[in-house]
Amino acid sequence: MPNQNIFPVSHRLLPRSERESSLGYTGAVYWLCGLSGSGKSTLAISLEKFLFENKINSIVLDGDDLRDGICKDLGFSIEDRKENVRRVSEIAKLMARTGYAVIVSLISPTIEMRNFARKIIGEKDFFEIFIKSSFEKCQERDVKGLYADSQNGKIKSFTGKDSIFEEPDSPWMVLDTENEKLQESTSKLCQAVLKQTTSLNS
Ligand code: ADX
Repeated sequence: MPNQNIFPVSHRLLPRSERESSLGYTGAVYWLCGLSGSGKSTLAISLEKFLFENKINSIVLDGDDLRDGICKDLGFSIEDRKENVRRVSEIAKLMARTGYAVIVSLISPTIEMRNFARKIIGEKDFFEIFIKSSFEKCQERDVKGLYADSQNGKIKSFTGKDSIFEEPDSPWMVLDTENEKLQESTSKLCQAVLKQTTSLNS
């Protein structure tokens, strides 16, 4: 039975405010959602580098990496994707409260799943960023060859084809990687996150 004989210590740990005022920036979760091949990982990697150069601690939680470790047991059914989102959200929550800029890069295909993430992480720490690129464009790029595999029937429940993807209603930010230059999307993302994470100082 959940929550029985459990004695959390979080209230006895170093207060978040103390840590953040010492660091000079605030922890938060920057949640990048979008189709496979939309540019999430590329943008997450650039953002991590930019934050490092600006002396802000961050961590990238990327779907493919997590599915190679903590989420190894999960597949791509809607239930498994929801569990994937739950685990990533719980990790992201802990890290954000420790002062990290947590960069999540996860398809997280439904509005319900992302609202679930928002609920776990907390409204004030959750920044939803939609990496917008059409199925056709992602298919044309096909960086990992997965679109071809799904066409050939080698992959089941492929997002955008056999499995749903719902665009966010009102994300914090939209990066249109189909029509913008990568440099433009990267710069928008980096500047917005830097401003948000250092808003303590303004
Ligand atoms: S999520 O839907 O549960 O959020 P997640 O971001 O972790 O997905 O994993 C997506 C990655 O898994 C893709 O970038 C791709 O490399 C790989 N992948 C393998 N099978 C599928 C599939 N059926 N649908 C989408 N992505 C898949």
